[in-house]
Amino acid sequence: MQPAEIVRGFRIFREALDRAAQRALVADLREVAAAAPMFSPMTPYGRPMRVRMTSAGRYGWYSDRSGYRYERHHPDGHPWPEIPRSVLGIWRRFASAGRDPDCCLVNYYGEGARMGLHQDRDEADFSWPVVSLSLGDEALFRMGGATRGGKTASVWLRSGDVVVMGGAARLAYHGVDRIRFGSSTLLNGGGRINLTLRVVD
Ligand code: SIN
Ligand code: FE2
Repeated sequence: MQPAEIVRGFRIFREALDRAAQRALVADLREVAAAAPMFSPMTPYGRPMRVRMTSAGRYGWYSDRSGYRYERHHPDGHPWPEIPRSVLGIWRRFASAGRDPDCCLVNYYGEGARMGLHQDRDEADFSWPVVSLSLGDEALFRMGGATRGGKTASVWLRSGDVVVMGGAARLAYHGVDRIRFGSSTLLNGGGRINLTLRVVD
């Protein structure tokens, strides 16, 4: 494994997963999406997000007109499926063997999808990092500091890259400006999947 590239406190591990591991993960995520179908949550501002998402674990991330939060159930009323073992392995390798995450948020970026700069701050304890894995098309990932409007830096994330947002970067702003649709052959039909693993409570 390549050593971490550290950009503004974000630790980036290039090709942390090889192609076979990426393919196995995609198969596991298809099962997650079969049990908990992807949806486009409404932002508090009243526009649907361009990213489609679902979750696995005790909690799923959710948003509607009343705000961002974690929910115990998918909008269809079922509990979220369990986090696949393959995904827990990534967490144990990059975050902690002492405690597993409560939520694996699965984001799918189709052509033209992006994600505005935001902080991940709906969790109870910021001493746990957020671990992110990219699969499929390349994405231009932007990283800032703990306040909105400061200087930012950007890197292209490729399939198999892991980003650990911990320490000073735990509450740093971040987002995805764009993806290069069709730049990877991992996902049939193109697009990008990003997983983020979180300890919620
Ligand atoms: C996120 O911040 O939830 C997603 C980041 C990414 O897609 O790389
Ligand atoms: Fe985030």
